[in-house]
Amino acid sequence: MEAGRAGQALRYRRVQVRVPATTANLGSGFDVLGLALQLYNTFTLTVTAEPGWRVEGPPGLAVPRDDRNLFYHAARRLFSRLGVVPEGLRLALQVDIPLARGLGSSASAIVGGLLAANALLGQPLPAAALLALAVELEGHPDNVTPALVGGLTLAYRIDSEPRYLSLPFPHELSLLLAIPELEVPTHQARAVLPAQVSRADAVFNCSRTALWVYALQNRRYDLLAVAMEDRLHQPYRTALVPALPEALAAGYRAGALGVALSGAGPTVVAITQGAEAAVAAALQEAFARHGLACQVRCVRADNQGATVLGVDP
Ligand code: HSE
Repeated sequence: MEAGRAGQALRYRRVQVRVPATTANLGSGFDVLGLALQLYNTFTLTVTAEPGWRVEGPPGLAVPRDDRNLFYHAARRLFSRLGVVPEGLRLALQVDIPLARGLGSSASAIVGGLLAANALLGQPLPAAALLALAVELEGHPDNVTPALVGGLTLAYRIDSEPRYLSLPFPHELSLLLAIPELEVPTHQARAVLPAQVSRADAVFNCSRTALWVYALQNRRYDLLAVAMEDRLHQPYRTALVPALPEALAAGYRAGALGVALSGAGPTVVAITQGAEAAVAAALQEAFARHGLACQVRCVRADNQGATVLGVDP
């Protein structure tokens, strides 16, 4: 057991947590729907006698190596709230979620930092408190919620308190991720959105988000193409991801059940049941026509969410 700055005891010396990638919005569900994916970052946090918060990770990974790291920002928030701030920490990263591609890498760091700090302290905060902190730090709920709890999540608020419902996502469906060689920071992708939308566009998206939930719960996958239509964000984000309209059309032509921009982009996510090779090729060709190489990953949904893999005394 190590002493924190405030003199309180940390319960454990080392913790390892694993956090899934996420794809947010899924077309119509802007800032509401999000889905956890079987693609993970793993964070190992160790309390050290040597002061300072340091990050070890794969060489070349473009993240801060000190306490400005987003994982540490989140961890500090939790430690400070509980009055226990360790003097020395070392973070080892295993990163499989691409950075700034619309796959929830920031959410994974925030959820990882909160979960790891809470675990070192013996889990004093319940999941609802971790979610509230995560939403506050990220600014929108649709990546951090599925990252924390898994499945397809519907995020909402009652007054200022974040709430969610999580639906298990069927493993008979695949998620094809076409990840172009292009970084789109989320703040930039939010800045291109209008502050106000028309009533017609709001109704359009509401109808499709409702359809999404029906389609999933009743295995009416034939409805996904309409359910994933969007007028609130994708049309505006085409300015940042010019290949998007072609990628959507090409994905459908090749047999995808649904295609959308993943989160704020630039990744495009296709939901498939068969036809994976054809859809992957179609998405790659659409990006190639805009001069962008892209890697394609095919994953299933994660219905478990962030996990504490282990703690050491
Ligand atoms: N709902 C958010 C957005 C997700 O579209 O800006 C960001 O990953």
